[in-house]
Amino acid sequence: MSFEPKILGFLCNWCSYAGADLAGVSRIQYPPNLRVIRVMCSGRVDPEFIFEGLLTGLDGVIVMGCHPGDCHYLEGNYEAEMKFHMVQKFLKLLHMDQRVHLEWVSASEGSRFAEVISHFTEQIKNLGPTPLKDEQLARELRPKLKAIKLAATSYRIRALVGRERDITQNENVYGEKIPPEEFDQLLTQTVLDEYHRARIQLALQESPKSVKELATELQLDPSEVLDNIIVLKNRGTVTMEQIIENTPIYVSLMEVME
Ligand code: FES
Repeated sequence: MSFEPKILGFLCNWCSYAGADLAGVSRIQYPPNLRVIRVMCSGRVDPEFIFEGLLTGLDGVIVMGCHPGDCHYLEGNYEAEMKFHMVQKFLKLLHMDQRVHLEWVSASEGSRFAEVISHFTEQIKNLGPTPLKDEQLARELRPKLKAIKLAATSYRIRALVGRERDITQNENVYGEKIPPEEFDQLLTQTVLDEYHRARIQLALQESPKSVKELATELQLDPSEVLDNIIVLKNRGTVTMEQIIENTPIYVSLMEVME
């Protein structure tokens, strides 16, 4: 049976949605695999929406907005680009980064809209159905994807992504500017740290555990688990519940996330 992917598109009202409309009234053909959510600006698309979409079993997600410089809210598409950069870094950890795409399409580019959708649909067809359709893979991937969704909401990630342009393009009060390559490394490391922390957090939501149990379950180094537990304790989201035979047992203070 041929595979027909389910693709979700977040289209900005002012450019890409109008581009899709133009493709429609001009009767330009494109694959019927796209389901559209109209947003006022591509900058409105929270990374959580993308991860949630993938968690529900979508095969691909595309975000489309106005060309740089054309955003009706001035900088919304630059924000979308920074967030998308972070989304891709997270999804790379699960080899799912090719299932998401960001593109600029203006209101007058009906045929380009059709080309972009055809190209992305083809890309997803080549990748095959989402691995979450496979029961065995889904058991392993689902908790990881949930951890990514949680990690993307962490204050540290949001603050870093929100200040990317400031940090890399303008000088701070000390006259310092971080080169983009250095920022990229910092973001990569932060994404990895927050991902591990989110995995620990979610594992502790299931049941209280020791550092050793967490390390075995998550296949992490025990010293790395302990370092992250200390950070989570300082954030007030994890605490030590009891000590059993000299071993501290930790528990999550966050509500169970679905
Ligand atoms: Fe289109 Fe902001 S209004 S990307």
